[in-house]
Amino acid sequence: MANDTNLFQNLISHCKEYGYIFQSSELYDGLSAVYDYGQNGAQLKKNLRDEWWKSMTQMHENIVGIDAAIFMHPTVWKASGHVDNFSDPMIDNKDSKKRYRVDHLIEAHAETLAGPEKDALLQQLDQLLAKDDYAGLKKLIEEQRITCTVSKTCNWTDVRQFNLMFKTEFGAVASENPEDNIVYLRPETAQGIFVNFLNVQKTGRMKIPFGIAQTGKAFRNEIVARQFIFRMREFEQMEMQFFVRPGTQMEWYNYWKETRKKWHESIGIPSEKLRYHNHIKLAHYADAALDIEFEFPFGWKELEGIHSRTDFDLSQHAKYSRKKIQYFDNDLDEQGKPYGNYTPFVVETSVGLDRLFLTILSLSYAEETWTKEDGTEDSRVVLKIPAKLAPTKLAILPLVKKDGLPEIARALMDDCKGSFMCFYEEKDAIGKRYRRMDAVGTPFCVTIDHQTKEDNAVTIRYRDSMLQERIPISEVKKKILELIS
Ligand code: GAP
Repeated sequence: MANDTNLFQNLISHCKEYGYIFQSSELYDGLSAVYDYGQNGAQLKKNLRDEWWKSMTQMHENIVGIDAAIFMHPTVWKASGHVDNFSDPMIDNKDSKKRYRVDHLIEAHAETLAGPEKDALLQQLDQLLAKDDYAGLKKLIEEQRITCTVSKTCNWTDVRQFNLMFKTEFGAVASENPEDNIVYLRPETAQGIFVNFLNVQKTGRMKIPFGIAQTGKAFRNEIVARQFIFRMREFEQMEMQFFVRPGTQMEWYNYWKETRKKWHESIGIPSEKLRYHNHIKLAHYADAALDIEFEFPFGWKELEGIHSRTDFDLSQHAKYSRKKIQYFDNDLDEQGKPYGNYTPFVVETSVGLDRLFLTILSLSYAEETWTKEDGTEDSRVVLKIPAKLAPTKLAILPLVKKDGLPEIARALMDDCKGSFMCFYEEKDAIGKRYRRMDAVGTPFCVTIDHQTKEDNAVTIRYRDSMLQERIPISEVKKKILELIS
């Protein structure tokens, strides 16, 4: 049996072999930490995005969705603090010239230590980061004799800050001052929500508390990009900013903390694979923050962030744009007076779609072996993706490609394909086709055989249990709709 590391490597190969994820520009040897989603990956990603979008905008009457542009006015990033603060402490190895994020370097070393030692080191790391104590971080790296994976030496530079935003030039007109044409690729989708707060609030006649949701690409020039699609340079976020009355933010922070964890459980992530991690060092905009962590094959890591962002972003945009960004609240307070004008506080939920994808795939991937009734061994690789998320729901398989069976199968395909994703295949032995559907993660297969012509019944096979049963062909669509709802 493969161990966790092998299993993760096998999962990565499986993703490529079955059209889930390809290295970007693979023809040219790839681009580091950038990936393309194949035919099955794109559909799984869409299904996850749709689930999130529905849970936010359809299931909450007070949350609406927008789709803001990736390019934004450069002052947005000055106002938000990203130009000055969106950086990570880095350290370079003088021999290999390789650059590392300090926290990742120390965390990776901590993983090699025994329990109490590991906890003590991580605690020290958190404390030094919270104080921005760069000299202390370097000392810790040297004391622990942490070496570079390439040069294997402990010959380090000082710790420095490195901004993670990608810059590009906007428009064709050259300016005397090159800074004039600079725009950034957004490092988070959240700012597109903040700058549209007034537009949405006014046109949607939204009453506080209310939320604005958005999904879309974000870009970060990550220095240590590793663990497959866990940390990418181009990735997708699903963010929701919830605007609340000042002073009520902790109540809503706790509400969203619970609600988001329950949502992850509702899409099939076991509760024991999820936990909260409170931040000690808070981002420049937050008065409370935590991660919802998932136990990935390489350890517990952040899946989603819940942040109480105060009124920082709206106040900053008001200051930099010189516009009034406030809300008039005519509800009455405890003294019976209207609350009046104020800058709302914000609670944010922010989950990486690619990380969620990796979460679902790492839970679903299984290498199974068993002994058959005749005593021989059998095995399969299966993706047990929850049926409602699986890219293809139903495979329709005529036993042979003659005797009128393909015609019956095609008629069933035509009946079902308007309601859910189906896949038709008539090549190869049926056992081989079942195995291929297991590997792709298709939860249900229906086989049309010669008896179907007599009794109008088909065999339905369930991916996870491999059990089969006979059902009337007229009931297939209804049954699948029930199973995926
Ligand atoms: N607007 C707040 C924000 O962006 P964050 O904790 O930096 O907060 C939120 O990011 C989520 O985005 C993370 O929990 C993670 O799921 C995802 N994410 C962040 N950086 C990522 C990267 N380089 N690759 C993939 N996903 C990433």
